[in-house]
Amino acid sequence: MALHPLHGLVEQLATQPIIFIGGKGGVGKTTTAAALASYYASQQQKTLIVSTDPAHSLGDVLNVRLNNEKTVISPYLDAIELNPDVIVDEHFAQVERTIKAYANPDMMPKIREHLRLSKSAPGAQEAAMLESMCHHLVEAAAADAGYEHIIFDTAPTGHTLRLLVLPEMMGAWTDGLLAQQRRQAKLRSAATHLDSHNQKNSAQKNDVANPFAAKKSDRWEQAVSVLEKRKQLFRQAGLLLHDRTQTAIVLVMTADVLPLAETKRAIEQLEDSKLMPAAIIINQLISTTQSDEFWRHRAERQQHLLQDIEQSFTKYPLYPIYLQQTDVRGTDALSALLSA
Ligand SMILES: Nc1ncnc2c1ncn2[C@@H]1O[C@H](COP(=O)(O)OP(=O)(O)OP(=O)(O)O)[C@@H](O)[C@H]1O
Ligand SMILES: [Mg+2]
Repeated sequence: MALHPLHGLVEQLATQPIIFIGGKGGVGKTTTAAALASYYASQQQKTLIVSTDPAHSLGDVLNVRLNNEKTVISPYLDAIELNPDVIVDEHFAQVERTIKAYANPDMMPKIREHLRLSKSAPGAQEAAMLESMCHHLVEAAAADAGYEHIIFDTAPTGHTLRLLVLPEMMGAWTDGLLAQQRRQAKLRSAATHLDSHNQKNSAQKNDVANPFAAKKSDRWEQAVSVLEKRKQLFRQAGLLLHDRTQTAIVLVMTADVLPLAETKRAIEQLEDSKLMPAAIIINQLISTTQSDEFWRHRAERQQHLLQDIEQSFTKYPLYPIYLQQTDVRGTDALSALLSA
């Protein structure tokens, strides 16, 4: 299959509300994601771009300072750069509030210390980031948010793929927690029953009932409802990600050996999870009409690899983006990159 003309990309994705941009480090994910967002915004289609990459390059590419809250870039373009440190802090503050609602107050110092250590545990940032991503995804995809496109600029491939598959894993994990909570709730209710029996006896003696006994089950319900809500969030996000009328996954690569190998692996993993990429972008191509020998040599090498790429990805449309003289920055230059 030959390369498709680039303007076909924005047409192909025009009706996709959710677009994920993935790929190996440095291949041009942020540039592509920002270019798509700038293009759709220039067409007056309201777009939100979310960066899950802690390196803050989205703000640099858009020439705007971004943070963990939504920033309005233009009437049709909003952007957020998710900050893992802020998200982890908020996430654990919420976990602490939930635990506090039903834990024995004497235990709180120990629990706080445990939570403090958990913040730096492997996977903690990822889990917190995933939950935040799912929040933004589900919230922005709701009809009343008014977005025609939500574009995710992600961190390099391995990470992205894990994020895409994680909603299911997290759902299963939350199920496990809920089952455990239910078992404990049963034990608790048995214990409370015994306790109230004892209290009745002692109340008869000194007429004092336990003031916490009545509230405990309410608090327990609250804790379970937090978990239920989280499970629901992951389920909704998972459904959106697997719905091809909603979500398009676009992989970016360069015509080099390592990005080709990584893209092959990424596609296998995606296909295993029933997440098919919608398109592949071959970025930083050099036109073959070079007078300089060095550049001509590189262009020829890319052409050679392109044959491999075309044979490897026959199922997916391939779009070329040529190497520009300078970095592409600012919404005008970015959207021009795709309409060329
Ligand atoms: N077609 C292009 N022409 C010229 N420069 C480009 C092109 N595509 C990307 N670049 C430049 O290459 C560098 C890497 O691009 P970008 O930041 O978009 O990659 P990335 O895949 O998001 O990287 P990371 O994995 O670090 O997030 C940037 O300096 C960017 O301006
Ligand atoms: Mg990037």
